[in-house]
Amino acid sequence: MSNAIAEFIDGLPKAELHLHIEGTLEPEMVFTLAERNRVNLPYSSVEALRAAYDFENLQDFLNLYYQATRVLLTERDFHDLASAYLARARAQNIRHAEIFFDPQAHTRRGVPLAAIVEGIGAALDEASRSNGPTTRLIACFLRDLDAADAMRTLDSLLPWRARIVGVGLDSAEANNPPAKFAETFSRARRLGFRAVAHAGEEGPAAFVADALDKLGAERIDHGVRAIEDPELVARLVREQVPLTVCPLSNIRLRVYSDMPHHPVSRLIDAGVLVTINSDDPAYFGGYVNANYRAVQEAFDLTTSDLAALAKASFAASWLEPAEKATKIEEVQLYLQRLNKARAALDIPKHHGVNRIPIMTPFNVFHD
Ligand code: ADE
Ligand code: ZN
Repeated sequence: MSNAIAEFIDGLPKAELHLHIEGTLEPEMVFTLAERNRVNLPYSSVEALRAAYDFENLQDFLNLYYQATRVLLTERDFHDLASAYLARARAQNIRHAEIFFDPQAHTRRGVPLAAIVEGIGAALDEASRSNGPTTRLIACFLRDLDAADAMRTLDSLLPWRARIVGVGLDSAEANNPPAKFAETFSRARRLGFRAVAHAGEEGPAAFVADALDKLGAERIDHGVRAIEDPELVARLVREQVPLTVCPLSNIRLRVYSDMPHHPVSRLIDAGVLVTINSDDPAYFGGYVNANYRAVQEAFDLTTSDLAALAKASFAASWLEPAEKATKIEEVQLYLQRLNKARAALDIPKHHGVNRIPIMTPFNVFHD
């Protein structure tokens, strides 16, 4: 990759829409919090823990992910975790972040919901008072627990109704179809929560359709296996359902063998509203810019394509329409500034052929 493209990605204003705050727990912080909270770890060092980050599949990853969350116990821990992510997000020029957390992963260990939400919330407030990013908070239900547990969790969220804008669905997808949570999501939406769901990560394409039809999901997290059903892809394009794709995650969890086999470019070519995200960046080898770089390199995306992806990330966000328009304009200005500077820097106008075709809905965002 040329330095110029990597720098372009670093400076590109972008939104992150698929980010588990627990998935930003870096090994160094695991050890710091373990010491602070006197939690025993089955790893002798940061290096030994990092060496365990070699996953066979989603479940293999989740086992380690839940084990690591045991060091998160107090409001201060949750604050520090979120604050560290937000600092990294600023450094990556993430201007807006919609952040997942897993209440049940902590409440089932006896951590009060108040400690989780107040801790994360304080960090989000600090970001909004300083350099950003702007944020939204989304509570995910663990789909491998039963539906009654999700419903009880939903009720327990109500005191923080103003803080938590939406609900999501994550954890082990196989054998835990969206339909299992139809009632929970129906009640959540009646209560005014917005809805997203992980679907079509390891589960089949049919789960993507079910997340839309049975849960009322507004966006699909991952959704990559939709590529196996051309009619579903056509529907996603027609209805402009955003997919929050996490390319490095899918490779590290062996959903696809390598980036050239990842369907992200075929989904983009079909006109699906694809966004690029990091999922659990402490575990999967990189934050959001690393994901943009991996996709750029594998599919030879141009700066114009990358800008279109960044615009899509704002378009698919839950920002207010006026804020969306402002952020999308910022991406456009960034691209125009670069185009003006190209001649001086002696960079050819197009690194390659634009991948995001002119006739797709992306066109509304294209330069
Ligand atoms: N929880 C954290 N990361 C996840 C992922 N990629 N899929 C499902 N559940 C998750
Ligand atoms: Zn995820």
